[in-house]
Amino acid sequence: MTTQSQATPKMRLAILTSGGDAPGMNAAIRAAAMLAEARGAEVYGVEQGYRGLIEGQLRPLPRDEVAGIMREGGTIIGSARSNEFRTVEGRDKARATLKKLAIDGLIVIGGNGSLGGVQALVNPAETGPDFKTKVIGLPASIDNDIALTGLAIGVDTAMNTIVEACDKISDTASAHDRTFIVEVMGRDSGYLAMTSGIASAANAVLFKEAGQTEDQIVSRVVDAVLAARARKGRNKRVLVIKAEGVEIPTERLKTLVDERLKNAGTDHGPIETRVTVLGHIVRGGRPSAFDRLLASRLAHVAVRAILAGKTNLMAAWGPWVEAQNSYRPVSGGMNPPAGEIAPLNALGERSPDDPHCWLVPIPTVLEETAKLLDGRSSQTQWRKRIFDEISDVLAL
Ligand code: F6P
Repeated sequence: MTTQSQATPKMRLAILTSGGDAPGMNAAIRAAAMLAEARGAEVYGVEQGYRGLIEGQLRPLPRDEVAGIMREGGTIIGSARSNEFRTVEGRDKARATLKKLAIDGLIVIGGNGSLGGVQALVNPAETGPDFKTKVIGLPASIDNDIALTGLAIGVDTAMNTIVEACDKISDTASAHDRTFIVEVMGRDSGYLAMTSGIASAANAVLFKEAGQTEDQIVSRVVDAVLAARARKGRNKRVLVIKAEGVEIPTERLKTLVDERLKNAGTDHGPIETRVTVLGHIVRGGRPSAFDRLLASRLAHVAVRAILAGKTNLMAAWGPWVEAQNSYRPVSGGMNPPAGEIAPLNALGERSPDDPHCWLVPIPTVLEETAKLLDGRSSQTQWRKRIFDEISDVLAL
């Protein structure tokens, strides 16, 4: 019979959210905490991201505390960007916390910078042989700017928020035959602008990756307005979705468009342009059903990976693998050369616990993400090319 003193110590799992919050982070915390507890682990939440890890601010996260948080936006354990964690000294303090509290596994939920933090935390050149904590990352960023996952947690909710706002704006735009330039979040990635532009039936989509000059950007908006003016009937509303990362400030874009169109007002009256900056509204709110499911599935895969002793991996939503293959040249034209496509499985392994999820080494994620953001990846080039090809269709 096993006595209390002989019992195996409980496994300890900590959960941390870092960087910009994203809807669905709480759903991921909930799923990870509940699954780990059900498997016999003690679960802790790290307060305020890596800063909390450095300062040793951890608190127990029992089932009762997380069971009801599925539908809450933000993150109940807080998030932060930590400069101290960027230093070796800072990371040493974080590792000391993990050691002192005997944390066996850490789940980091966040974006590119947060995943870079995982890589630095487990870097053998810094840790020494004593470091035992297994660390798994979950991609969470409304910008969908993390490579090798089809979607990050929060993207679907953010897209729905934008589309809902644009539907409302479209009512006024249609009633008054106005042009609206709607600025959406996306510092380095225009993904949200592109997808919500399609889903809200925008007449033009502007994003940094397109690499357009100021003059080309203004022309794209002006062309869309003139195309709308030329339409027969009442529908002269123009909706332009502009990603935050486009270098020309949105108010300046409006001014330049107004200047170019000041003599183009016709029998339909003057042409009026308005600007709406959605800002942080895009990042908040209750997660969509899809984000709740995605977060729960990725958390499930991550906990199972930690229990299996894996580390320095990101749990990814699978369709990126299928997407890589679908970029193969079919009839010439829009696909990248086959040599640019990594063979299936080369960049990660399918999760043994969920056929739609993958476990991808974090160094590979970081490398591919750099290419996604600076335009070298075939995915970015494909997005850019598609929008080049359809811009005249959108303007119609
Ligand atoms: O990384 C997500 C993001 O929402 C970007 O799109 C945006 O530029 C940035 O965060 C804003 O960050 P902060 O809330 O720190 O101003």
